[in-house]
Amino acid sequence: YGTQTINSKGHLEIGGTDTVRLADEHGTPLIVYDTGLIRSRARAFKKAFSDEGVPAQVAYASKAFSCLAIYRLAEEEGLALDVVSGGELFTAIRAGFPAERIHFHGNNKSREELRMAFEQGVGCIVADNFMEIGMIGELSKETGRGMDVLIRVTPGIEAHTHDYITTGQEDSKFGFDLNNGQADEALRILSETPGMHVLGLHCHIGSQIFDTEAFGLAARSLIGKMDAWRREKGFVCPVLNLGGGFGIRYTEDDHPLEPDEYVRSMILTVKAAAAETGYPLPEIWIEPGRSLVGDAGTTLYTAGSMKTVPGIRTYLAVDGGMSDNIRPALYGAEYTAALANRMKLPHDTRYTIAGKCCESGDKLIENARLPETSEGDLVAVFCTGAYGYAMASNYNRLPRPAVVFAENGEHRLAIRRETYEDLIRLDAEPAAVGKEGM
Ligand code: LLP
Repeated sequence: YGTQTINSKGHLEIGGTDTVRLADEHGTPLIVYDTGLIRSRARAFKKAFSDEGVPAQVAYASKAFSCLAIYRLAEEEGLALDVVSGGELFTAIRAGFPAERIHFHGNNKSREELRMAFEQGVGCIVADNFMEIGMIGELSKETGRGMDVLIRVTPGIEAHTHDYITTGQEDSKFGFDLNNGQADEALRILSETPGMHVLGLHCHIGSQIFDTEAFGLAARSLIGKMDAWRREKGFVCPVLNLGGGFGIRYTEDDHPLEPDEYVRSMILTVKAAAAETGYPLPEIWIEPGRSLVGDAGTTLYTAGSMKTVPGIRTYLAVDGGMSDNIRPALYGAEYTAALANRMKLPHDTRYTIAGKCCESGDKLIENARLPETSEGDLVAVFCTGAYGYAMASNYNRLPRPAVVFAENGEHRLAIRRETYEDLIRLDAEPAAVGKEGM
């Protein structure tokens, strides 16, 4: 994976940094990002568009992993940004991310969140529903500011992925239905609202998608609608946003494409669909999250207790679990692991890697292959960079892990480990009970 190597001590290195040293210095669980890999992915997405001469915006979907340091990195790489809440917007602005490159998403943005978007001057709002369109219009009047708007639609495309992360089908809480008049009505209202400038259509058909055909179908149906608007209303959309969802390789059963391959196939379909109707080629915007940060992240755990269920399996428990990675428990997501302090030994013993939360379902990997492992060994779980820390919790009051960025043999802290004091920081002091001294 990425710039991972094995050094002469048989230790796993990430971004040129010995993971055993990182674990000694920062403790475990520890999430290590290979930021060189994130940068090369970002550049590959952008280059694939510029090589074809297609105007584009590559927005990092920051729900995949959000903190000040990653926003700074995204800004350094010239990415645009997708945020979905006041909290993400606040963090991005605090990191110095230019507001005009931020796209604001979400199916239930509050008036306060939208006001913040106006006050900060975000680049565009992705309008999701009629209530929101009304609020955007009012806020524009109130603040005296205009706003660029994309209309999010559900094109009725079912990408082949887990139900919970499929978002483009008709029965979805997101967006306007493309085919029953809702999207047309949204355009009508927005065009009649002063200050609103409709950029075009947006869709996101799902996540962890390998199948370029699904993106192609989505592109075709959106361009179909854009062309209908051009013919019926003389309105031409300058932007087509096809969302994110590009798959990555969690296990050897996954066969994703490279960023440039996803993009090239997308460009081909958009060009073909535009040529068929004579539609002027729109700018293509995409929003990769997982494919920018997913396989750049590795979680390091310390091996702890073990239990053999004779004839069935051996559980190897680590010092984190569903509190720092809910994906196996929530989606049945699969991962691979290795023993970071003894990479050169054959990985031929089967373990079920379990977490330390009080739940039987708190398993990270079934049938992981490791060398014979004992207490204190360093277990690396790969590809945890997307929706790992982002979905972490304090279940069982486990402090959330530290996060470090490693690149070119150097590393720096991106998020410090939570302390027990952090855990009670928001708790109200219990009221004194009864008499003094009790
Ligand atoms: N754009 C929109 C509008 C989205 O809803 C999403 C993800 C993305 C972009 C980025 O998708 P990506 O490139 O990361 O696949 N928690 C789930 C994934 C939920 C994705 C939600 N939307 C998981 O852990 O698999």
